[in-house]
Amino acid sequence: MTAKKTFALTTPIFYVNAKPHLGHAYTSSIADSMVRFQRLMGKEVSLVTGTDEHGDKIAQAAEKQGVTPQKLADDVSALFQETMPRLGVQFSRFIRTTSAEHKATVQKFLQKVYDNGDIYFGEYGGHYCTGCERFYTEKELENGLCPQHLVAPQYISEKNYFFRMSKYADWLKQYILDNPDFIQPERYRTEALALLESGELEDLCISRPKSRLTWGIDLPFDKDYVCYVWFDALLAYTTGLDGVGSEKFNKFWPNQQHLIAKDILKPHAIFWPTMLKSAGLDLYHRLNVHGYWLVRDTKMSKSLGNVVDPLHMVTTYGVDVFRYFIMREMHFGNDSSFTEDALIARQNSDLANDLGNLYSRVLSMAAKYYNSSAPAPASYGDREKALQDLALESMRNYQSLFDNFKFSAALESLWELVRGLNKYVDVAAPWALHKEGKSDELATVVYTLLDMLRKVALHLWPVMPGSAEKMLEQLGQAFDPAQTNLADELGGFGQLKPGAKLAASSNLFPRLEMPKAEEEAKDAGKAAKESQTAATIEFEDFQKLDLRVGTILSVEKHPDADKLLCFKVDLGEDKPRSIVSGIAEYFKPEDLAGKQVVVVANLPFRKIRKVESQGMLLTAEDEKGLTLLTPGAYKAPGSKIS
Ligand code: MSP
Repeated sequence: MTAKKTFALTTPIFYVNAKPHLGHAYTSSIADSMVRFQRLMGKEVSLVTGTDEHGDKIAQAAEKQGVTPQKLADDVSALFQETMPRLGVQFSRFIRTTSAEHKATVQKFLQKVYDNGDIYFGEYGGHYCTGCERFYTEKELENGLCPQHLVAPQYISEKNYFFRMSKYADWLKQYILDNPDFIQPERYRTEALALLESGELEDLCISRPKSRLTWGIDLPFDKDYVCYVWFDALLAYTTGLDGVGSEKFNKFWPNQQHLIAKDILKPHAIFWPTMLKSAGLDLYHRLNVHGYWLVRDTKMSKSLGNVVDPLHMVTTYGVDVFRYFIMREMHFGNDSSFTEDALIARQNSDLANDLGNLYSRVLSMAAKYYNSSAPAPASYGDREKALQDLALESMRNYQSLFDNFKFSAALESLWELVRGLNKYVDVAAPWALHKEGKSDELATVVYTLLDMLRKVALHLWPVMPGSAEKMLEQLGQAFDPAQTNLADELGGFGQLKPGAKLAASSNLFPRLEMPKAEEEAKDAGKAAKESQTAATIEFEDFQKLDLRVGTILSVEKHPDADKLLCFKVDLGEDKPRSIVSGIAEYFKPEDLAGKQVVVVANLPFRKIRKVESQGMLLTAEDEKGLTLLTPGAYKAPGSKIS
């Protein structure tokens, strides 16, 4: 038997000064989904996560709470460990940076870099921000404040150990240029290159004198100093593979990917590769960087009281709905706003309406016509062949987009199939076939639907494991991830065995009630429309609008509607948006390409006369005609309008 290919992923090793919030939950859930997906692609996988427990930040948080740093670390680390399974996250190793195993990793690595001559002793003065655990240069400060925390840093001058990071700047720049996929999405690769090209990359201060901080790992070559927390934490990624040189490390490291948010790009894109190079190790395979969850377009923060508790979400809506929502809603790499209303809307439109209804309709037809035992198909006709083509394209796109962390687009592709199945039911009208006694056709239609729903469930497993397993069980399918390969699903149809015992009904994705305020707002909206006068709305309602600047890439006439134009608009996302707008009588398509427009970006996906539309262009109209709204000056596509 040939050895399986490997796939390894890490989440950041989370600080223990705050309990897990939406941001931590997002990274951990998508990491889990990715690893589950790679398992279903036949790979042997590793997922390492953990807690980052040393350093000033933790020592100070503990002091504030009147406990020892160890006690704080024990408590919060336990909280993270308990939270992971509740988010459906299955990790291979959870590393605590205060463990003896990790300390040994760090000391061994430090000694190696020291012996290689890349660590020296020197004096340094700089502006130190405790929140960031790093020194800032004068230039990096904004109005004298730390740009992240907006607080005045402390000026500290002391003797410390330094890592010769600057020595590797040119090499790293070349490496990133030669390996275009090393950091993705592209914008973060550009950001990393800009950091290297600024010519300001200094050596990295990697120690703290014990006179100032004792909460860290001792430097093996000077017991009066502890190691800088980032130099310590990054090495958790190797501890998670049993340490450099172990069998596990050798097996997984060539396919090691990291997953982080944009806040910690520099340590991962600059510190970590140069550290590895200095120690004579190969670089990790790829760094994947996602954006930030905002709440009503504001950063989550304890002081604003707007921190989203993922466990509350999971308890209220269920872990699968939560996971589906965060993966579908955020375009990997971009920031996204979290609202419960949007979660409910997604549950109702994608899960209850599109998938849930279809699934329960199919099960009840199978119950009614076949006593809940899957029928054998007769022969596939043109309708089935067209559906199979759609399914193949949908699954192929899903698999390749998922593999590249483009979760939202991947799910959108899978939903092309779900929507195609809904259309198939409507057009094939099994109830009519039954009435007309066309039993061969009826069996083919019901079988095809069951067979396709099996494929949908398998592809959904990485995102919604519980629901997918339940679906497979209700479809009478045994499921073992180790025996499943999604690539095989592209090989053909008919894997669902006729005769499989089906559930008689299912309510896996129930509709959720909109909160009352939302319903009232809707009614008010309707009333306003009827009277043609705009009703007053709450500011929160206005804030729900996601208005963005877009650049029109191309415009075409709608193939079968004179009034409609079909736009491709760049909103700074992975791929351009298709938008259909009823303004053909006012413009020539060729006059519009390249123009900037204002787009309502968070409307639900629609098909307008068979062409998909994911947004609306804003216009202004008076008796002289209609114009497209545009920003006063050029703005980057995706810029937020508020
Ligand atoms: N301890 C360091 C990481 C060391 S890795 C060797 C650290 N910890 S952290 O607890 O602050 O976690 C930062 C990470 O949490 C982000 O990179 C991201 O994965 C996640 N998030 C925290 N807030 C977030 C949002 N608001 N939105 C999305 N994810 C964010 O940095």
